Order: sequence, then structure tokens, then C-alpha cells
Amino acid sequence: VNKINVAVDGPAGAGKSTVAKLVAEQLSLLYIDTGAMYRSLAYSALESHIDLQDSGAIKDLLVQLSIKLVNDSEKSTVFVNDQDVSVEIRTPEVTRSVPIVASHESVRLEMLKRQRKLAIGENSILDGRDIGTHVLPDAQVKVFLTATVDIRAERRHEELLKRGFSSNLDQLKEEIAKRDELDATREVAPLRKAEDAIVIDATTLSIPEVVDAIVNLINIPV
Ligand code: C5P
Repeated sequence: VNKINVAVDGPAGAGKSTVAKLVAEQLSLLYIDTGAMYRSLAYSALESHIDLQDSGAIKDLLVQLSIKLVNDSEKSTVFVNDQDVSVEIRTPEVTRSVPIVASHESVRLEMLKRQRKLAIGENSILDGRDIGTHVLPDAQVKVFLTATVDIRAERRHEELLKRGFSSNLDQLKEEIAKRDELDATREVAPLRKAEDAIVIDATTLSIPEVVDAIVNLINIPV
């Protein structure tokens, strides 16, 4: 039986993981949050006081890390060497650090291998920056999900306030733009739309509208 792979790429805060998770639930696909894998590595590097720029040391750290993504209908949990790091990998410090560890070629190669191994042979949906261009160049459906930086920052801002965190809109805007810039200008597998990806601009779309648009692109083989 042929399996279907769906790639969802795009800039930070466009809603990739939210919609990918909902599409996965609706169509019983395996959801793989590749950003969480890079975040786990950045978190571990910070914990071990390893120089983020030292590609050799970061790669050595990665080969010793087991990263497990567990999804159920209520929540997604991330385990690093069996420790639940789901909350820790979302801090501003980790968020700022990920693009640095994610820029190393040897790191990306190892992540690509792990991501392919998880996805191949499963009906799956992966979200990230380089899924359509590098990880799964033969994915049957490729989506590039965007929105203006203003709307991405505003949505994140509202979500943070709703969850009781403090948030500064201008600072958020700056951080999101900075992260996109780092991700889009790195030499290895930068953030880029695959040639055959379909662009969905979420600036004026609700979450259910984006989910519907993606679901309509997918034909599950029987
Ligand atoms: O998607 P998320 O915001 O969690 O990703 C965090 C960071 O991980 C990105 O800013 C990027 O530096 C890195 N990343 C990547 N390639 C992917 C997924 C994430 O370089 N496929």
C-alpha cells in the first residue's frame, strides 16, 4: 500500500503545528513536529553548557540524545532521554538558540535521517522549514504556510496573554522576524518554499479554514 506524506513548511508562528496536528487527527496521520526535535537539541546544549556554535560538539551531543515525540488527542509530549521536556523547549531562551544549532550541516543530516525514518512507511504529516525541500522531497502534498509578520506576532501575543503570560508585541515582532531571517539565510537547507509546494496565506484565514484547505489537498490511498 502506498503511504502518504504531507510536508508543511513556513516561517515562525504561521500556525503550522496547530493546523498540522488538527489535520493529523482528522485523517489519522502520524504528526511529526520537527521543530520540537531541534528545540530538544538546543535545550540539551544549553543545559550542558555546550557552545551552540561548536558544530562538532553539538553533533556529538545529538548522537547521544534519544528524542521521542508522543501525541495524544489532549497534548503533545516531547521526551529527551526519557525526560519530559515539553515545557522547557518552549522558553524564549531555547527559541532564540534553536536557529544556531539548526544551522550546522552535520546536525541537519542527522535530523533528516531521523525524520525520514519516522515518516517513511507511515501516513504522516511533518511540519518544519525544510520538509518539502530536503527531508521529504517526494511528499505527495507540500504546503507552504505563511502570514504577514504582523499578524503572526499579533496571534502569538494574544495567545500568550490568554494563557496568563506577559508579552510585548513589538519585541515579539522583532524576535519572529529575526528567527525567520536566520532560518532563511543559513547555508544548509534554509527555510524556503519547495517549487511544487502550494502556498496558503493564513493572514486572513481562521485555523479551521487552513485545516480544511490542507485536508482538501490530501487523498488517502486505500
Ligand atoms: O517550528 P519551530 O518554531 O518549533 O522551530 C524552531 C526552530 O527550529 C526554527 O526556528 C528553526 O531554526 C529550526 N527548525 C529547522 N528545521 C526544521 C524545523 C525547525 O531548522 N525542519
